[in-house]
Amino acid sequence: MSKNSPSIRIADLGAHTGQSVEVQGWVTHVRSSGKIAFVVIRDGSGTAQAVLVRSEVEPEVWERFGSLTQETCIRLTAVVREDRRSPGGFELGASDLEILGPSPQDYPIQPKEHGVDFLLDHRHLWLRSARQRAIARVRHEIEQAIRDFFYERDFTLVDTPILTAAIGERSGLFATEYFDEGTAYLAQTGQLYGEAAAAALGRIYCFGPTFRAEKSKTRRHLSEFWMIEPEVAFNDSEDNMRLQEDFVSYIVARAVGRRRVELEELERDVTRLERVKTPFPRIDYGDAVKTLQAKGSNITWGDDLGAEDETLLVADYVTPIFVCNYPKEAKAFYMKENPADPRTVLCNDCLAPEGYGEIIGGSQREDDYDKLLARIHEENLPVEAYGWYLDLRKYGTFVHSGFGLGLERTVAWVCGLPHVRETIAFPRMMNRLRP
Ligand code: 4AD
Ligand code: MG
Repeated sequence: MSKNSPSIRIADLGAHTGQSVEVQGWVTHVRSSGKIAFVVIRDGSGTAQAVLVRSEVEPEVWERFGSLTQETCIRLTAVVREDRRSPGGFELGASDLEILGPSPQDYPIQPKEHGVDFLLDHRHLWLRSARQRAIARVRHEIEQAIRDFFYERDFTLVDTPILTAAIGERSGLFATEYFDEGTAYLAQTGQLYGEAAAAALGRIYCFGPTFRAEKSKTRRHLSEFWMIEPEVAFNDSEDNMRLQEDFVSYIVARAVGRRRVELEELERDVTRLERVKTPFPRIDYGDAVKTLQAKGSNITWGDDLGAEDETLLVADYVTPIFVCNYPKEAKAFYMKENPADPRTVLCNDCLAPEGYGEIIGGSQREDDYDKLLARIHEENLPVEAYGWYLDLRKYGTFVHSGFGLGLERTVAWVCGLPHVRETIAFPRMMNRLRP
């Protein structure tokens, strides 16, 4: 094996035309005419085809070629040639081939249709497929866009705890014993801590995993998902929605601008995403209920919108929409009472088009100490766990608002996936803890 050839990533082959290089990766396809053999190799950065000519390589190299199977890990020594017909635009003229990691013939994922349960059982291998790689790259782009959006706007990233004593949302809780301190809950949200940080730093966001023990087997629910939660001092509910529409349209434009190849791999109709423009329509909850009733829904005033209601409502739009000011009983305890209609709170959900539904929940926060305390009692929450949260209303209370964007639902929408389970490397659902 020549040690003079530098080890090159497939994505960087273009800078090495005419040179001898080493490429390492996994075999995806092999075929041979008996005299000439082709190996397609994937290294994570790209895919390239290598050619071996029997009469030009050592006999043992040709023999090793014969033992290659799907997913064998190999190192090739090869000359890089420009070739427009090859995938990636280059062909590797191989002179040597070394087997780094053999792979038995029984690789579970074959180029045929597999059921989704089978694929999820083999998620650790399924990740290697072209479709899964495309999704991972879109998710990565969206995460980077999120960080850039907030960095450009001078938000400070604050990492909030995962083990908590206070409950944030109404959905199910994962609980665990915590030394002598009683029960700890896995965070359903970082928001309450984000509010404390907003009084210190003005504009903050947190971005971390959140946990919900919801017994829902829907295409929108995971028991572990990632949420981005900005919190802004002196923003009211209107400011909050403007921030949301700027944020969502920024993310979508970034994915469309930089991940076209991946979106094509996913057969996403990007013209739909290109229509996402601000401002997003704002619909009052009361009007939404009337519209839904006219469309045949049996929703009544006071109910939260179900997934089907959301799909029905957003069907008339090409951009996401905001549904604003829900009834108190449909939403969390911390939302600010609407002075114009105290039966409702100053909040919004942002619903994505094409049936994707709620991707954001946001609100102005109750900044009145007594009203907040009353809501904590009404919801039968353990008031002693909220002393610190009430302090934020005692020492310099302030108008503030924020929201939470669900990363997996957003990725599912941008990628056009029917279910959130493929948007995260190792999904956690009611019936799935492995691999
Ligand atoms: O509407 P939610 O429950 O809002 C909050 O947690 C607030 N504390 C946010 C805030 O104001 N800081 O959740 C926000 C978003 C939803 O719109 C949805 O996108 C996502 O989180 N989400 C889920 N995603 C996947 N699986 C689940 N089980 C989810 N539950 C919520
Ligand atoms: Mg919600």
